[in-house]
Amino acid sequence: MKSTILRTVLLAFSILGISLLHYLTPLNLHYLHDIFQRFYYLPIILAALWFGFRGGLLCSLTVSVVYAPHILFQWGGGLTLEMEKYLEIVMYNVVGGVTGLLAQRERARSSELQKTAQGLEESYNKLQTQSERIMTIEEQLRRAERLSTLGEMAAVLAHEIRNPLGSIRGTAEILRDDYQPGDPKHEFIEIQIKETERLNRVVEEFLRMARPQPTEMVRCSLREELETIVTLTTNDAKARKIKLSLEPPAGDLFVSADGEKLRQAFLNIVINALQATPEGGSVTIATRQADGNHEIRFSDSGPGIEASALARVFEPFFTTKPDGTGLGLAITKKIIEAHGGTLEVESQTGTGTTVIVRLPVI
Ligand SMILES: Nc1ncnc2c1ncn2[C@@H]1O[C@H](COP(=O)(O)OP(=O)(O)OP(=O)(O)O)[C@@H](O)[C@H]1O
Ligand SMILES: [Mg+2]
Repeated sequence: MKSTILRTVLLAFSILGISLLHYLTPLNLHYLHDIFQRFYYLPIILAALWFGFRGGLLCSLTVSVVYAPHILFQWGGGLTLEMEKYLEIVMYNVVGGVTGLLAQRERARSSELQKTAQGLEESYNKLQTQSERIMTIEEQLRRAERLSTLGEMAAVLAHEIRNPLGSIRGTAEILRDDYQPGDPKHEFIEIQIKETERLNRVVEEFLRMARPQPTEMVRCSLREELETIVTLTTNDAKARKIKLSLEPPAGDLFVSADGEKLRQAFLNIVINALQATPEGGSVTIATRQADGNHEIRFSDSGPGIEASALARVFEPFFTTKPDGTGLGLAITKKIIEAHGGTLEVESQTGTGTTVIVRLPVI
């Protein structure tokens, strides 16, 4: 804005100056007038370059208007005598217009080029962020690969631990027979055997999880599977004085599943619920259909799970029990997902826990 005013003032002054030269120079110095006449091209071309077609033409018209009286009144204005001067006025306007047009077109082109350059830069930036993303994903993949190798090594390790564990347990049993029950050494060896058993359980569970056996999918009755689970755990529930109930599903429900695996998953959930529920509490199993899934809800009236623990219940080896392995829910999740289903735990401290299994309807 400021430069526009400055440029306009500059043009006005130069036109005024050149015109004054014309008006004030005596006519007999006609060779000077010939020179001054050409000076007008300077402001006209500048105006065309700065302001385009309209600016160039406006400037040349101003020059024409300012210059014309000089021809008409000082030179006499004879058409044939002063023809050259009239032609110069025509030239002013032609130069103003054409230069303005060209300058304008040039400017449009350069702004277009600028826009293209901007677009290119944006594409380049996008490309760069994308390639960065690819690099991070690659890094993640490499890490996953390392982890899976670690997992395989852990499985080998677990396998190697099992054999010496068997010998320790065997020899401990032989030693135990040397002492009478009640003897402190008998107790110690008992502890030793119990702890070996626990270690063995951890290793076995781990191996079972690490080596996914092929699943054999057949048509299974959900009702039958759940009834089997209730039968298997009724005694345990009675001993704990917990009311275990299966709300009979409406009609028979079928899923495509490996029955043994499915029972293992359900059993893990029910055992957790029984372990969490205090005397006099209840564990309820209910089923319903929703969104093409069978939904099986295992609800207990236990203490619930704290938010920080809730986020970790599916983590292998996460346990809050002194003799737990922390593999129950990790295995359960793996089994349910292998059946195309999902496993979810809803819990609030004080109100109990609900484990929800969803399996696709067939
Ligand atoms: N119904 C539940 N109520 C309260 N806490 C639960 C319940 N189910 C699971 N949890 C919590 O989740 C943890 C992990 O459960 P998970 O079954 O994986 O292992 P675990 O029961 O501790 O060990 P394991 O199943 O090998 O005996 C439990 O230690 C417990 O803190
Ligand atoms: Mg468990």
